[in-house]
Amino acid sequence: MDLGRGEGRRGVGANREDEKQKGQENTALRTCKQSTLADVRAPCYSSEHPCIGATTELARKAALRPQSDLCGTVCPSSRSQRRCCHIFSGAVSPAVMGLDQCVVLAACTAVEPVLKLSPVDPCMNSETADAIIRKALTEEKRVSTKTSAADLVTETDHLVEDLIISELRERFPSHRFIAEEAAASGAKCVLTHNPTWIIDPIDGTCNFVHRFPTVAVSIGFAVRQELEFGVIYHCTEERLYTGRRGGGAFCNGQRLRVSGETDLSKALVLTEIGPKRDPATLKLFLSNMERLLHAKAHGVRVIGSSTLALCHLASGAADAYYQFGLHCWDLAAATVIIREAGGIVIDTSGGPLDLMACRVVAASTREMAMLIAQALQTINYGRDDEK
Ligand code: IPD
Repeated sequence: MDLGRGEGRRGVGANREDEKQKGQENTALRTCKQSTLADVRAPCYSSEHPCIGATTELARKAALRPQSDLCGTVCPSSRSQRRCCHIFSGAVSPAVMGLDQCVVLAACTAVEPVLKLSPVDPCMNSETADAIIRKALTEEKRVSTKTSAADLVTETDHLVEDLIISELRERFPSHRFIAEEAAASGAKCVLTHNPTWIIDPIDGTCNFVHRFPTVAVSIGFAVRQELEFGVIYHCTEERLYTGRRGGGAFCNGQRLRVSGETDLSKALVLTEIGPKRDPATLKLFLSNMERLLHAKAHGVRVIGSSTLALCHLASGAADAYYQFGLHCWDLAAATVIIREAGGIVIDTSGGPLDLMACRVVAASTREMAMLIAQALQTINYGRDDEK
């Protein structure tokens, strides 16, 4: 931002004020650069604004600052710089940034450090979500079941969820949270107009239990019921997928694009089984798969993590995804990433996505999405907001 703009008109007094303010901000940024990750949460975007934990002016300046500067603010190591702050790319023009966008920007700033520094990083906070998950992946786990014998949870799911929520709540006390394990313990999943974080602490828990290394942390963020950004971290491959409404989708800084395939007979389709295993549900699940194979899809794959399957679609490595029985925390972040990669996310009826309806078709094109929606028979899983 051009801090000198308008100097001539406002005279020397205003100029000194500008210099003073600039000096204070530079001091704040320098403090951040010298501090450890654990310290970064608080001082970078100070708590002067009671609602968002960031001054509107600082948030606007953050939107203008180049990525490398922002990365330096978060963590000076070059390894981290490569993976930091991708959701800032293509940020909304500060001239049109209203309070909602400032909320989003402040939220973007906060989320990545909570997720994703590696244990070998000199700025490491040993309590980051990905470090906890990667360490626990190969260890013995205490496993419990939830809605069915195939719906698993471990102490690490709880630990990571608690960590993410407590870090974010400290920064944003007025925000709401919808999170998988809290919901399993009876918390209501209601998406209001308030800023809301939608969290899956470990997506692919069954993989995690079996040490199958396809596991992710997924965090979506909505304001006024609109999904604003999503971050999905593939813990074992250290891939950070990010998408911000209007700002594009990225994986470790590389722009994501869907394949653009329209023809189901040339498609690689991904799905997940879902937790119900009663004979009627399994029959419908298998028959849906059979219908797509009869339509001559090249293949149908099940990888055990709906968020990472959706990221494959966003990156063009698959052409479509469908599922009955996934939840809002499986979908929230991925939906933004796919849309920003040029893809489509709709309800299995062919209508608009209903985040709480526990069903989805996502595809590289609308044509492909509609072909799949027409082929599917519905499996009823109820709604997240009615449980
Ligand atoms: C599950 C996984 C699974 C899918 C389920 C999801 P979780 O999430 O993504 O592949 O079939 O519908 O709920 O329980 O591992 O977080």
